[in-house]
Amino acid sequence: MRILALETSCDETAVAVVEDGRRTLANIILTQNELHAQYGGVVPEAAARQHLGAINRCLDQALQQAGLSLENVDCFAATLGPGLIGSLLIGANAAKALSLVSGKPFRGVHHLYGHVCANYLDSDLKPPFLCLLVSGGHTQLIHVSDYDRMEILGETLDDAVGEAYDKTGRLLGAGFPGGPALDRLAQHGNSKAFNLPTARTQGPYDFSFSGLKTAMRRAYERACAEPAPSPTLQEDLAASFQHTVVETLFRKTLACAEARNLTTIAIAGGVSANQGLRQRFQAFASNHPDYRVCVPKMAYCTDNAAMIASSAFFNPLTDNWTMEVFSRTPAKSCEASQP
Ligand code: KG4
Ligand code: ZN
Repeated sequence: MRILALETSCDETAVAVVEDGRRTLANIILTQNELHAQYGGVVPEAAARQHLGAINRCLDQALQQAGLSLENVDCFAATLGPGLIGSLLIGANAAKALSLVSGKPFRGVHHLYGHVCANYLDSDLKPPFLCLLVSGGHTQLIHVSDYDRMEILGETLDDAVGEAYDKTGRLLGAGFPGGPALDRLAQHGNSKAFNLPTARTQGPYDFSFSGLKTAMRRAYERACAEPAPSPTLQEDLAASFQHTVVETLFRKTLACAEARNLTTIAIAGGVSANQGLRQRFQAFASNHPDYRVCVPKMAYCTDNAAMIASSAFFNPLTDNWTMEVFSRTPAKSCEASQP
């Protein structure tokens, strides 16, 4: 089954064609970074207008890349939420219009479920597995027991990881978006230069990053006030921040996997593009052959439509994105194996 999907939930205009949920035939992503960089953050109204201008061009490019015409598509899909409503409407309405005129079905997709499905692309991964989902708005540990069954075992109590990266990147003047810019800076810094705090949470698999963000601000301000700040201050702070975040994510994910007897771990979401995080999980897997670690290809980490097409294949939802398949277990059910 060939699904053509559109993803416009935030600041990427993306169109993809995927066969049977795993084989990507086309993957077009147009980022709006240049537009939003001048404001230091995503401006929803500007994002929606840019999607409106770009959507048909991206659609043409995707069909061309796949070597297909609309008649060869079996189903149309789009992200229905969560996301910026003005942006979502562009992709969703385009996909619904294509469905209407072609008489082919439309499937709506939950954006976070899409990120989980990024791991099925060009891969033979099958549930069950534990997924660490780290994006700009979410940080969750999800037990994927089947293609359409997911249970949230832990999540952030305040900032999402990507949000903490973006805000800290802005603090250090690293560039826009802050996440990848900070990741690049971190490659050249000393991760032991600053001793940053790790938050304790009541739920063993929950996260909190707002304290770390504040600690970074204090450390930066203190260091800048010194008579001769280190020439590698930004790099060292970035590396120390990255080390603290990566260790927290890794430790909690592993403890959760052990508690649930899950030996397959996947990471997903924009922050799964982070070099430090990928290396930490991959290094663990190479020393522990009893575990399988899946990291999506770089093109499937940040927002893309291939993951939405995969999701539409594995979990057809028609028009209802408020999926009951995402259920949150009370934290106490996990407390027995507190890390
Ligand atoms: O999944 P995504 O594209 O959009 C959301 O659904 O939120 O994630 C975007 C987030 C942003 O916060 C961005 O800074 C972060 O992912 N990100 C990174 C990296 N690449 C993207 N964070 C850290 N290191 C990276 N290499
Ligand atoms: Zn996303």
